[in-house]
Amino acid sequence: MIIASNFKTNHNRATTKKFVNFINTQHFFSEVRIFPPFSAFDNFDLTPNIKVGAQNFYPTQNGSFTGEIGFDQLEEFDIDSVLIGHSERRHVLGESQEEICKKFDFAKSKECEIVYCVGEPKEIRELGSDAVMSYIWEQFDGIDIDYDELIVAYEPVWAIGTGLSATLEDIKEVLDNLRANIKAPLLYGGSVKVETTKDILEIENCDGVLVGTASWDMKDFAKMIEISDNL
Ligand code: PGA
Repeated sequence: MIIASNFKTNHNRATTKKFVNFINTQHFFSEVRIFPPFSAFDNFDLTPNIKVGAQNFYPTQNGSFTGEIGFDQLEEFDIDSVLIGHSERRHVLGESQEEICKKFDFAKSKECEIVYCVGEPKEIRELGSDAVMSYIWEQFDGIDIDYDELIVAYEPVWAIGTGLSATLEDIKEVLDNLRANIKAPLLYGGSVKVETTKDILEIENCDGVLVGTASWDMKDFAKMIEISDNL
């Protein structure tokens, strides 16, 4: 199981250090990923099943891209796990599928683990399952679904940060459909809470969760990892 925390624009350098060090001393079996803001990267001494990753990057080793972070900056901190295609990057920051593909190809050329996020907005969900799946498959246009280091996160846009999680049936249906073509681990994300973690992780094709809000408290995140360890 993979239990991942996306800090988004939360936590600073000091609180990230506290969080990472706390999780690092817990001795879990699950695979744990923590995506802090760039400014909180550090040379953490992590146990092998924990990785600190990047929420974003610009697809370049280095260069003149004011305000962006390239791989020179990630490699300084041994970052080799990245999030790509998160709904906030697609829908709030306006990242196109073309830009997402460039990032994917670049991260792949660097042999990074890629947590690739897909998910439908509310108006598509309201059209029913077929519309949802065709929307999601379009988000795989240009993406190598056979990449060895791929992890896919299904995160319905309307469920992210809203407190409204998808139903277990809806999650199962999407993950089953994805599983028909994708062998990579499949995560669910969207208002996952400590109380809902067990039921979600028990869904047949669910290999983990990507959590925002409910993971920002280190004790709650540790509880989610413990739930996963005990399954
Ligand atoms: P949330 O965020 O848990 O706050 O809904 C999930 C995510 O954006 O990955």
